[in-house]
Amino acid sequence: MQHVSFIRMDEGTAEDYAFLNAREDEFVLALPDRLLAALTSLEGSLAGYQINRLEHSLQSATRAEADRADIELIVGALIHDLGDDLAPLNHSQLAATIIRPYVRAEVAWIIEHHGVFQMYHYGDAMGIDKNARDIYRDHAWFDSCEQFCGDWDQSGL
Ligand SMILES: [Fe+2]
Ligand SMILES: [Fe+2]
Repeated sequence: MQHVSFIRMDEGTAEDYAFLNAREDEFVLALPDRLLAALTSLEGSLAGYQINRLEHSLQSATRAEADRADIELIVGALIHDLGDDLAPLNHSQLAATIIRPYVRAEVAWIIEHHGVFQMYHYGDAMGIDKNARDIYRDHAWFDSCEQFCGDWDQSGL
């Protein structure tokens, strides 16, 4: 079988969907390759910082590793800005959506909220509320996200 027999989802057979499931399994297994390609493409992303977005991602992950963070946090640091190109206004949420199925809930939460926590470090200079993160002050993972941004994300730019 080269492709399914249908052109409407509701006309597909069990054989068609078994065929598609097998293709999907292969496709999911190749996700790391696609993520690395997307990460590499950050080299040409948003300009103006002293290093490019790929270098920033590598530095963030390297700092996490140096601090003996676990592998989920290290990978989180590596891909946390992956959404910069396609979701510049909500890049944190895009990266969190990508990583959520593969990491514990805390790591996905940190990635999802790193954007608002980052504002603490530049809000004053930009004239925006640096304390916007405070709506999460009582959240169980506030400190984790604060540490992620303070130690690994907000420096080395
Ligand atoms: Fe970010
Ligand atoms: Fe970042």
